[in-house]
Amino acid sequence: MSRVYNFSAGPAVLPEEVLKAAAEEMMDYKGTGMSVMEMSHRSKAFEEIIQTAEADLRELMNIPDNYKVLFLQGGASQQFAMIPMNLMKNKVADYIITGQWAKKAAQEAEKYGKVNRIASSADKTFSYIPDCSDLDVSDDADYVYICENNTIYGTKFKELPNTKGKLLVSDVSSCFLSEPVDVSKYGIIYGGVQKNIGPAGVVIAVIREDLITEDVLPGTPTMLTYKTHADADSLYNTPPAYGIYICGKVFQWLKKMGGLDVMKERNEKKAKLLYDFLDQSQMFKGTVEPKDRSLMNVPFVTGDAELDAKFIKEAKEAGLENLKGHRSVGGMRASIYNAMPYEGVEALTAFMKKFEEENL
Ligand SMILES: Cc1ncc(COP(=O)(O)O)c(C=O)c1O
Repeated sequence: MSRVYNFSAGPAVLPEEVLKAAAEEMMDYKGTGMSVMEMSHRSKAFEEIIQTAEADLRELMNIPDNYKVLFLQGGASQQFAMIPMNLMKNKVADYIITGQWAKKAAQEAEKYGKVNRIASSADKTFSYIPDCSDLDVSDDADYVYICENNTIYGTKFKELPNTKGKLLVSDVSSCFLSEPVDVSKYGIIYGGVQKNIGPAGVVIAVIREDLITEDVLPGTPTMLTYKTHADADSLYNTPPAYGIYICGKVFQWLKKMGGLDVMKERNEKKAKLLYDFLDQSQMFKGTVEPKDRSLMNVPFVTGDAELDAKFIKEAKEAGLENLKGHRSVGGMRASIYNAMPYEGVEALTAFMKKFEEENL
């Protein structure tokens, strides 16, 4: 067996320990004689899996009792619609546009009400996070929406916006569980799990209980109403059961590693190695304003598209995979999620150094 260092932005690298444990349990999960994949979601064994997963997530994120944890489907993109359908009572919402995902979320919300784009970093190709300390938050806004870590552009909100008392809704798909968060500052904090937590197909939404009501926009489908899933403890219909099982294993791995404070330290150490290299390099350049740099997604360029392509090809041959930047921006991007070991980033920077020496 040989494994590569996988810098994919998502689906992405998962802890080897988790993959091995899942492989061991593949044919016979704890004496049930079947795989979790083959098991009824109403069985005792699965009930324990989903309940343990939720309890572990609550412990890791220190989720207050007045928040529900929902395991949903449809990808993060489905939340772009589900959020306005469930929260737009006044049919007005404020969006902060820091990249493609916030832009898409705003466009979707526009189908349901008025969207005010109260800040944007589009003027400099989303290479920074706008100052959100004193924004013109709309008086009648139902919520303020952010994408907290911008997977494509590699920026991260280091401070949450001042929403002037309005509800904050945040997409944390690409920074989920990468560092501690104060859940009580959010109305909804959600993300697709396929970057930092598990296989594609599961979305986790942590929602303040008072926001989960029957008072949704007319015509909202049953499946897109948070209350449906909250009332049924995420078992209204068949959930993405195997995915939830893997998420649960990752939660246990995170707890064993020491929790989110430890992950933050590890992630800072990994990111520093790469950013320090970029800052001194004559060839490679980071594309993000240093103060807004993400710990998870690190875009960089040489400034020469041909050289970028050569780098990506040779890196792949050296076992460093998926370093191509998003198709909308080009260049390179190294995603260094929780499960990427320090050695992976060491291997990447050593390779970059060698490439620079050979090609400068
Ligand atoms: C920050 C962010 N939000 C939303 C999405 C869309 O997620 P999905 O493909 O699960 O709909 C992505 C996907 O890469 C993302 O990075």
